[in-house]
Amino acid sequence: MMIVILILLGIVLILFTYLTIRFKSGKRKAELHWQHSNIQKMHNLGTVQFCQIIPLIDWYTSREALKGEAGVSYLIETDNVSILFDVGFNMKQTDPSPLINNMKQLGITMDDFDTIVISHNHLDHVGGMKWQRQRTFSLANQQIDLGEKTVYTPIPMTYPGLSPILSKNPTVISEGVTTIGTIANQDFYSGWIEEQALAINMKGKGILLIVGCGHQTLPKILMRAESLFEEPIYGIIGGLHYPVTASRIKIMGINMQKYIGICRPPWSPITIDAVKENIDLLKKRNPGVVALSAHDSCDESIAAFKNAFPAIYKEVKVGERIVIQ
Ligand SMILES: [Fe+2]
Repeated sequence: MMIVILILLGIVLILFTYLTIRFKSGKRKAELHWQHSNIQKMHNLGTVQFCQIIPLIDWYTSREALKGEAGVSYLIETDNVSILFDVGFNMKQTDPSPLINNMKQLGITMDDFDTIVISHNHLDHVGGMKWQRQRTFSLANQQIDLGEKTVYTPIPMTYPGLSPILSKNPTVISEGVTTIGTIANQDFYSGWIEEQALAINMKGKGILLIVGCGHQTLPKILMRAESLFEEPIYGIIGGLHYPVTASRIKIMGINMQKYIGICRPPWSPITIDAVKENIDLLKKRNPGVVALSAHDSCDESIAAFKNAFPAIYKEVKVGERIVIQ
């Protein structure tokens, strides 16, 4: 019996040592990725006057018939382009998927968007583990015909019948709408992550950032936006990964998000003080809209954001439109 325990302890120790070495080297690589990003000012992005974000998948919902889950999918409509930003989790691989169910409930069809942007290749953004492993994505249990939609991905990804555009560097989607290029980070358990966000230049207001999971970290997202644009940051909507006191995904009672995806070592999980430091960074930009996704942040972190931005904070709830004009 003692030998078995010693062998198990040895395996855990070897695994932990391997993960620690990989984490440290990944962090160094991510820093090099950041330093070598070839970011040029965007002078002619143009502007949009109108932007509407309809969360199709997120943790909270605005009514019972809509399904919430620990994933992200937002329909983003502007003057000249409609984007499906991420495609949800479909954790139980149900048919219809929560995304398809919610689209039907909200009267949204495949014709309501012409572009798909994937923030990063994680299961809660590409429709499940099966698709993440294959470096693809799916809105439903099976991959459906997406016609001639334009797809932007942060790493090379595929989709039957389509040729996704790799948007590692900032890539203009339409007048006033662009990706901000990928920012890399290393997670202790899940490994290397390259994530992109969207930026929408709202006329007379500034840059609205739409973020999937926030593995890039808020400070780097803000720095990237300020390197790219002359306009001030107007706001930020989406996931920023602040699971301080709880996680939306629990396995055997363990708060999974508190450890997986935080891009910090497990002995140093994110604290409410770290969240407040990020809030202070955002406050310095004097934003006009802030909306935090609950899919990867706990209620305490959301409350801290609401307290910090009482006049401008918007809820992210499936079916509840956030309109900016
Ligand atoms: Fe996420």
